[in-house]
Amino acid sequence: MAQAPEKTIRRAKKLRAALEQHSHRYYVLDDPTVSDSAYDEMFRELVGLEGQYPELQSGSSPTQRVGAPPADKFESVRHARAMLSLDNVTSAEEFLEFDERVRRQAGESALVQYMAEPKLDGIAVEIVFENGELIVASTRGDGVNGENITANVKTIRSVALRLRESDARWPVPTRLDVRGEVIFGRRDFEELNRQRELNGEPLFANPRNAAAGSLRQLDSRITATRPLDVYFHGLGLVEGVSFDSLVELFEAFRSWGLRTNPLNRFCPDATDVVGYFGEITEGRDALPFEADGVVAKVNSFAVQRQVGEVSRSPRWAVAFKFKAQQGTTRVRDIVPSVGRTGVVTPIAELEPVAVGGVTISNASLHNMDEVERKDIRIGDVVLIERAGDVIPYVVKSIPEERTGDEREFVMPQQCPVCGSPVKREEGAAAFRCIGMQCPAQLRESLRHFASKHAVDIDGLGEKLVAQLVERGLVRDVADIYALTEEQVAGLDRMAAKSARNLIAAIEASKGTTLARLINGLGVPQVGEHVATLLAEEFGSVEALLGATEETLIGVREIGPQTAREIVAFFGAEQNRDVIGRLQAAGIRPTLASRRRDDGPLNGKTFVLTGALSVPRDQVARQISAAGGKVTTSVSKKTDYLVAGSDAGSKLEKAQRLEIAILDEAGLEALIEGGGQ
Ligand code: IVH
Repeated sequence: MAQAPEKTIRRAKKLRAALEQHSHRYYVLDDPTVSDSAYDEMFRELVGLEGQYPELQSGSSPTQRVGAPPADKFESVRHARAMLSLDNVTSAEEFLEFDERVRRQAGESALVQYMAEPKLDGIAVEIVFENGELIVASTRGDGVNGENITANVKTIRSVALRLRESDARWPVPTRLDVRGEVIFGRRDFEELNRQRELNGEPLFANPRNAAAGSLRQLDSRITATRPLDVYFHGLGLVEGVSFDSLVELFEAFRSWGLRTNPLNRFCPDATDVVGYFGEITEGRDALPFEADGVVAKVNSFAVQRQVGEVSRSPRWAVAFKFKAQQGTTRVRDIVPSVGRTGVVTPIAELEPVAVGGVTISNASLHNMDEVERKDIRIGDVVLIERAGDVIPYVVKSIPEERTGDEREFVMPQQCPVCGSPVKREEGAAAFRCIGMQCPAQLRESLRHFASKHAVDIDGLGEKLVAQLVERGLVRDVADIYALTEEQVAGLDRMAAKSARNLIAAIEASKGTTLARLINGLGVPQVGEHVATLLAEEFGSVEALLGATEETLIGVREIGPQTAREIVAFFGAEQNRDVIGRLQAAGIRPTLASRRRDDGPLNGKTFVLTGALSVPRDQVARQISAAGGKVTTSVSKKTDYLVAGSDAGSKLEKAQRLEIAILDEAGLEALIEGGGQ
């Protein structure tokens, strides 16, 4: 093969540096400066050059993030320093006792201060950097030996493949073993499971299992399609650099491009840790990731050394765990529920029980395999848990409580809604109703289409959809646009005014965004996030209809399986017909991409805080649709803080930094007034 010309070598180097820089801004700083499509163009150019001249390839090239061909097994890796585990405390008293012990062991003159961090519910990893290059990444394993998951970790966008040097105080060390937690964000997790449910694949029980399952893929190309994330929180072996404290270490981490959790907090004494624990506990349901407590670590490394460790855990750190949000209740019944792709899911109807302040009366049992594995029967007493969010989860049944009257759930052979056969596909966990015109499927797909995440037709909720389907007024999503005011006014409990409003909302939805329309169509494997990527990449329905598997695989984050599903969906005659009728009805989706550069809020950064009158993600969408950007923490780069009632520390910080503060009306005025 020909050698790469000098010019090409220089070009590849330049592309690599630019891609690293943009990736860092996007995934670590949450502050991108180029559009996704500009990024993708550079990426593809580099892939092309590296393909043409393999000598240009390197392990730390951004192109490595797409994953490597499957391995047979994971090799074992020995950690240069053992990865320890943590002791637990579960109350403020116990934590204060821990602090007493630390101070006793540290000696009178020692200053005992803490770094407090959310205890992330993910998978611990260690990454070895030599002279700034990512060499190997491994799981914790038994603490001494872990599994080599380098190819998988490299696919995580927020993992630096090469350390940056951006602060003269922190030159890149010769050797740096960093430790962190790989996590699956809550929203991403829900989206993943939603897609898996649609595809009849077994669901992950919680974000931690999803992170573990994604990291332990022998085929890293699959890992590459999962939106994993990382926060770094500790060290193993280091050479060529030293730190006095965790505060310093985290500063150095950030200067090298290693992400740290913005919620970490330096606590001058133990009572501050208790206060921090209270704050995190209170806000735990709203955290973007799942946490099971707080980790408190002595800040000074000298004091850490003085205090030392016992057996497998350090004496200078402790996990301060949340109280489990669990409860027991009885399963009144297990009922099959038909989703929009015909998957029949067993749902446990529970005697209502309050868990962590939320009343739970039903929980998905996901699929038959789960019901059988956990041996959950009608009438059983079960342990349920609210996994962080409000989604309840049946942990197990309690067989000791059985009276003998319990009954096993049997998957019906006929769809409970349309009577068509229910079949289990070869090798799949899910049972599906195969009825092409099953009203349950139709209802679910209409509801999804009209939902806030899709084309957002205000007023078209569950009850109305059910009536429209029952009366045969709507047979697919395109029929919605043929509805007349008279037809709608003829439905139960529909006043003339609501009928008018509904027709107006349907009309308004014709100007939805392309991403929302794509999401609304219900393409298997395509949720909100992938729909946004597709909209940005293809720009129109027509372009998407013409996309091939090959072009789709070239889109960032889209894997071969998703590509196949997309092509099959848009190739099906029935779907093409629906899309044609949507277009004929006047649907003209706009291209309001996440970063519009001609919107009234273009280039402005917003932070939202306090209780707003509508959900935050709705306000965030409004801001992005107008070209603005929403970030989570207040900094000098923030242009506006939008504060609702009960705003707390963010408001104080914004005031201190003299950042403009808006209420909701102020935001609206800003958008309407063209950003002036
Ligand atoms: S520091 C000596 N910080 O918890 C161990 N660990 O039970 C120091 N974890 O294996 C660990 N979030 O996987 C630390 N902010 C955090 C953490 C954290 C989660 C996990 C980690 C570790 C386990 C220890």
